[in-house]
Amino acid sequence: MRAADEPLAAAAQAIQHARRLVVLTGAGVSRESGIPTFRDALEGLWAQYDPQQLASPAGFRRDPTLVWQWYAARRRAVAAAQPNAAHIALARLGAVKATTLITQNVDGLHEAAGSTAVLHLHGALDRYKCVDRGHGHDIALETLPDAPPPCSVCGALLRPDVVWFGEMLPPEILSRAIAATEQADLMLVVGTSGLVHPAASLPLLAAQCGAVTIEVNPEATALTPHMTLSLRGAAGALLPALVDSL
Ligand code: OAD
Repeated sequence: MRAADEPLAAAAQAIQHARRLVVLTGAGVSRESGIPTFRDALEGLWAQYDPQQLASPAGFRRDPTLVWQWYAARRRAVAAAQPNAAHIALARLGAVKATTLITQNVDGLHEAAGSTAVLHLHGALDRYKCVDRGHGHDIALETLPDAPPPCSVCGALLRPDVVWFGEMLPPEILSRAIAATEQADLMLVVGTSGLVHPAASLPLLAAQCGAVTIEVNPEATALTPHMTLSLRGAAGALLPALVDSL
């Protein structure tokens, strides 16, 4: 076996022996589906905007139509994307091992690959809520208006049901993610820079609770020094290799 294969073999063996897995994914897991990661999402059309101005309550108050259209463009891009080998491998993993899948992504590609009961820490692009009382709305992509429509219940403007900078995560989802992390004996961390909390604190919590922690990322991240193993590579290549070995 080449030395380069050793971390992969060690990771595969750890997953093989794990009884309670938790997986945390970030935008990197969707990169091979053609979805830009959050911080390079501003290539092209949106290059002139600061994402924190678009994904924030202040940004929405300042220009609701611009923010609405930025999310509509991201939703259209996602609708044209297919789950990649990484999403498919994680769905297969969940079918053979007790696994809680927690994602920071809002693209729905884990469900498209067959994963179920996904915990969405940051919401979802295809869900909307009103700015005043959070009344939930579903709007089909083909009927999505060009500007935020009024809430059918209270008349306030609708906004994407995603977590924005400075906002709290959905408390019930977060508490389920923390509970799964505390009980896990292995956490797989895929495609996240580990910069945005509280999501980024989950791998640290897993390590504190004695779990084996394995990172999959082409680059080192803020989490790397805290990981049991850090596999350097694309999720679309490494995850199938890990799951095929089970
Ligand atoms: P980032 O854009 O911060 O980080 C993406 C990570 O994916 C980086 O570490 C890349 O090295 C890695 N990556 C790139 N290609 C990859 C591949 N093929 N396989 C595996 N990893 C790859 O995205 P997140 O960490 O997800 O919130 O950002 C966290 C949150 O910041 C996002 O959920 C977003 C933003 O606030 C919302 O949009 C609500």
